[in-house]
Amino acid sequence: MPSKEVTSQAPKTKKNASAHPSGDKRFKVLDITMKRNQYRQDSLIEVLHKAQEAFGYLEEDVLLYVARGLKLPLSRVYGVATFYHLFTMKPSGAHTCVVCLGTACYVKGGGEIVKAVENELGISPGETTPDGQVSLMAARCIGACGIAPAAVFDGTVASKQTPEVVVKRLKEYQKTDAD
Ligand code: FES
Repeated sequence: MPSKEVTSQAPKTKKNASAHPSGDKRFKVLDITMKRNQYRQDSLIEVLHKAQEAFGYLEEDVLLYVARGLKLPLSRVYGVATFYHLFTMKPSGAHTCVVCLGTACYVKGGGEIVKAVENELGISPGETTPDGQVSLMAARCIGACGIAPAAVFDGTVASKQTPEVVVKRLKEYQKTDAD
């Protein structure tokens, strides 16, 4: 008689079932990338790359999320993120503006928004105004294509932006903080 196969397995726990508490859809993009790579630790660079595309830069919250997902020490993730030049850490400005340049947003004017900020504030993606008030970043799809062109101001996603609206807002940041 064939011996009874032991089939008792621990119930499969859903990896990363705990979505990011902020409900920010960009963390979903990270979940998908990590899952597609079967949470392999050697997919770290690819995952960080995706994170930078989605967020425009890497901040500690994001690094922590990736470290948990891939079960890596934060120090390792932080080390890789700071070692490679292709990664940008949280910009130094008092305010951050991430303009989405993914296909949907670009087609609807994302590129014009960046140009307007370059002209009016004199900074390109990756740069901070000399007064230290505004950092401009670019992202490639922040997971909100339905509200294109999208931008993220200090972590809050804003829909259907125009060059005028974005420039006005950024100039207000400069004014308010200079008062
Ligand atoms: S392309 Fe901008 S949110 Fe997807």
